[in-house]
Amino acid sequence: MQELLVRGLTLEAEDVLTVDLVAAAGAELPAWTPGAHVDLVVSDGTVRQYSLCGNPESRSLTIAVRHERTGRGGSSWVHASVRPGDRIAVRGVKNHFELETGAPVILIAGGVGITPLLPMAERLASTGVPWRMVYVGRSEARMPFLERVHALGPAASVRETTVSGRPDIAGLLDGLLGDLPDALVYVCGPGPLTGAVQEALDARGLGSRLHAEYFEVPDLPVAEPGAFTLRLERSGVELAVPSGRSALEVVTEAGIDVLSDCEEGICGSCETRVLTGEVDHRDYVLTAAEKAGNSCMMLCVSRALGPRLVVDL
Ligand code: FES
Repeated sequence: MQELLVRGLTLEAEDVLTVDLVAAAGAELPAWTPGAHVDLVVSDGTVRQYSLCGNPESRSLTIAVRHERTGRGGSSWVHASVRPGDRIAVRGVKNHFELETGAPVILIAGGVGITPLLPMAERLASTGVPWRMVYVGRSEARMPFLERVHALGPAASVRETTVSGRPDIAGLLDGLLGDLPDALVYVCGPGPLTGAVQEALDARGLGSRLHAEYFEVPDLPVAEPGAFTLRLERSGVELAVPSGRSALEVVTEAGIDVLSDCEEGICGSCETRVLTGEVDHRDYVLTAAEKAGNSCMMLCVSRALGPRLVVDL
């Protein structure tokens, strides 16, 4: 955990505030790469994940916070209470959404989902790697960082749904993949957008190309959860996880501390090392390759494919 100083706040778009954080005197800021996020500790001590959207070379960490009036209160606290000169606690820099090097890239951003993708686009624009970006939002007034997006040139395009309607994601992807057939696809945005991209790629047999960062669970069918046995190797405990409950709930109830936040498989806080057994991955954090690697799982949503799992807890 590190206390950072709020250097400035900017109203970047309607309801979107950027918070510029710097290290206190004598302290070092952690290094980061495009796609990374920080855990911000909000007023009640819980944490919220925010992608870093500034320049990785700069001596500050910048996050953009959309005010979600019906959310859990983290964004309301930032908008109402955080002021320049305040110190706020930030935990680590993590990157579950790393930009792979070498392959062509398609970036699809929805609204404030532009935040992790913009540093990626700026990095790509400075390399010879072919890339395209489509930035979808309700209206320009609600879309942060338009100036930076326009500065990227013709590889980046902007679509306002109030002007041109909701994009046909399957058709959009076909067009982009026509130009860059081998591209990896990075998407960040609301659940319906990320779900539509996932469905379109799956339908084309290209599901493994998807890299997604979710801030809302996509609207996709979920299989019924099955019961299984979970062994916590370090604790020497064996627990029964029934069909209606998550492994995280059962583990926490047994008095074993596991870091968690979203409890929906989108933040990555509860990532736990798997020692034995095959995981039924139901999270939106790990890539297809990481899921196939079967070396870790998100305890809040993922389950066992077989009767038993052994984890490093
Ligand atoms: S608590 Fe967020 S992924 Fe499990």
